[in-house]
Amino acid sequence: MKLAVVGLQWGDEGKGKIVDYLAKDFDIDARFQGGTNAGHTVCYDGREVIFHQIPCGILNKGVIGIVGAGCVFDPAVFFNELSNLRKINPNIEECIKVSRYCHLIMPYHILIDKAREETRQALGTTKKGIGPAYEDKYARLGLRVGDLFNQELFKNRLRANMSRKNLMLMEIYHAEPLSDSEIYDKYVDYAKKLEPMVIDDTAYLNDALTKGKNIIFEGAQGTLLDIDFGTYPCVTSSHTVSGGVGVGLGLPPFCVEQVLGVVKAYTTRVGFGPFPSESTEEFGKSLREIGKEYGATTGRPRRCGPFDASIVKYSARLNGVKEIVLTKFDILSSFDKLKIAVGYVNAPAFDPFIADQLEPSYEEISGFKKDISKIRDYEALPDEAKEYLKLIEHYTGLKIKYISVGPERDAVIKL
Ligand code: GDP
Ligand code: IMO
Ligand code: MG
Repeated sequence: MKLAVVGLQWGDEGKGKIVDYLAKDFDIDARFQGGTNAGHTVCYDGREVIFHQIPCGILNKGVIGIVGAGCVFDPAVFFNELSNLRKINPNIEECIKVSRYCHLIMPYHILIDKAREETRQALGTTKKGIGPAYEDKYARLGLRVGDLFNQELFKNRLRANMSRKNLMLMEIYHAEPLSDSEIYDKYVDYAKKLEPMVIDDTAYLNDALTKGKNIIFEGAQGTLLDIDFGTYPCVTSSHTVSGGVGVGLGLPPFCVEQVLGVVKAYTTRVGFGPFPSESTEEFGKSLREIGKEYGATTGRPRRCGPFDASIVKYSARLNGVKEIVLTKFDILSSFDKLKIAVGYVNAPAFDPFIADQLEPSYEEISGFKKDISKIRDYEALPDEAKEYLKLIEHYTGLKIKYISVGPERDAVIKL
């Protein structure tokens, strides 16, 4: 099985929980885009483990995690995450591979991201240097993981880049310049530690395909944050859609056999940008508190609102999704009434170009007012909960395959 797992909203749909849940049936978990902006939460042995750079399926025995070519890679965050994971498995690095093609997130990318967020250009980014690192990649100025092992080339390109970046930092953002020798020494040190984990992921994965290995492709962010099809310009800088798998890992486009969409039972967004069903009133505030909707990467409060069927339908089309996982259904158990956005009064469908003008029309039903977090069987769900699920299937045209009713690995109802 070659399965892609992607978010169909604005990220934080619970992809981490679902990849961790499914990964036991896979040999490889490969990330194909994004970087340390991701925050994928897994509940392991009663504790919360948050993955930013490393694929989160590796807590399942025998699973190899690959940080693929389409990702941007921050060695500082990676080694920090690795040392935390060693507390769970002292030999965890044996399960982790990093593509030599990944572009490096450099300290100046982070400073530029932060400095920009202080200006009118701010997008509410995670300030992890993602945008500036992808900019350098496409401007053909980037430094890659593989370049760490050619020290002369690395030093020369770093020096050339830094003279420009320092000028930018000082002249435009009035920030302090950085020292290229300090950065060079740090990255030489990273290179030594990283070397045993670096692979040519295109060769590794194509070989795995030939051998019939099972691969799960772990999407980061969400479809509405896709660089082309999201709510541009309030998006991230990579292709979050399933089409990104092939180019993000050096695999043929037909490598993905199935795409599973992860969808929260309501909607959240962190950062700026349009959000048609956002509730700034009591309902949204309650969702945030009950659902603990605070960013896994930045701790920022997430904006919350009712489920929006139109954005999920739009995202499903872009990804080739027919089946979804509905997460955080347990969070809805304390509301008297539940409503979902079933369309827009002023548009026939979701359109990212006019996303800030869309006015949702809602359908309201009674809430289920019962703790469902221990339920593992669809039939045991209250009727009102079944009604909510039917509405979602009806208005999205998608089949719900799993329902997640708690953060723990086993808190899943399989349909
Ligand atoms: P991701 O970025 O898509 O992996 O999602 P995050 O990890 O950023 O955010 C999802 C949050 O919801 C995490 O804190 C998860 O532990 C939690 N979570 C996931 N699924 C469920 C669920 O079904 N119920 C509850 N209560 N929490 C969940
Ligand atoms: P996971 O993988 C939610 C958002 C940021 C900001 C925009 C651009 O955990 O679902 P960036 O730092 O990427 O340049 O920020 O994208 N964003 C996310 N929102 N979940 C994420 O990842 C996100 N990664 C980026 O908040 O609005
Ligand atoms: Mg997240």
